[in-house]
Amino acid sequence: MALLEIRDLHKNFGAVAAVAGVTLSVEQGSLHAIIGPNGAGKTTFFNCITGEVAPTRGHVLFDGRDITGSPPHRLPALGISRSFQRTSIFPRLSVAENVWVSAYGTHPLAAGAMLRHADTIPGLDERIRDALHEVGLERHAGRLADELSHGDQRLLDFAIALAASPRLLLLDEPTAGLSRSDTQMVIELVERLKGRYTLVLIEHKMDMVMRVSDRISVMYFGRLLAEGSPEAIRGDLRVREAYLGRRA
Ligand SMILES: Nc1ncnc2c1ncn2[C@@H]1O[C@H](COP(=O)(O)OP(=O)(O)O)[C@@H](O)[C@H]1O
Ligand SMILES: [Mg+2]
Repeated sequence: MALLEIRDLHKNFGAVAAVAGVTLSVEQGSLHAIIGPNGAGKTTFFNCITGEVAPTRGHVLFDGRDITGSPPHRLPALGISRSFQRTSIFPRLSVAENVWVSAYGTHPLAAGAMLRHADTIPGLDERIRDALHEVGLERHAGRLADELSHGDQRLLDFAIALAASPRLLLLDEPTAGLSRSDTQMVIELVERLKGRYTLVLIEHKMDMVMRVSDRISVMYFGRLLAEGSPEAIRGDLRVREAYLGRRA
């Protein structure tokens, strides 16, 4: 079953057709990668799903429900979390507090009950602990977020996303700007999450994409150039010409 369905999505910025008619289904529990050269429209595609930008045309369906144009702050409650290309944390809050904000904000009992004391919400502490455990940051729970290394801040970004108990996780170049060892850490984390969450991954590192993906869609000038298994995409001549060829 498709958890996320995109139908004929378009986004124009003036004369630029950043997304130009993308139709795509993401199967529940799968890891679906979106690749393509810089400027292909990948981030804009995510922004249309999460409501950061309003699509010019087309529809976004999540779990069979039309969520086109839902504002970004509604997304975590719907079950969609996103990690950003740049980390988006509160630097002067502790690691645990950063995760708390996300866990509290999306907890069903917290919704509409702003005066409820957080200690009285069952399961909240577990959610925070689980999210920190998942990414391996428990030992840093009490530290200020901006004291973390660059790589650990990226892991915190993941923990914040996971604390919202998402069903769908959108990852936009999670290894961008990381050292080789931090990149490896993030790849291993994505592999651990695979199968337990539905994941859509924008990524440039081809070895990672080929290894972890169930399915790959290739964007090129706002359109889908090809879609298929890693093997099929690796062997696709149009893809090689448009993208892989340029890097080879
Ligand atoms: N907010 C914006 N305003 C104007 N143009 C934009 C905006 N966001 C993206 N674009 C343009 O849309 C195209 C696709 O960009 P983007 O989605 O960031 O590509 P990718 O993530 O694949 O590198 C580019 O030409 C980019 O300059
Ligand atoms: Mg991008």
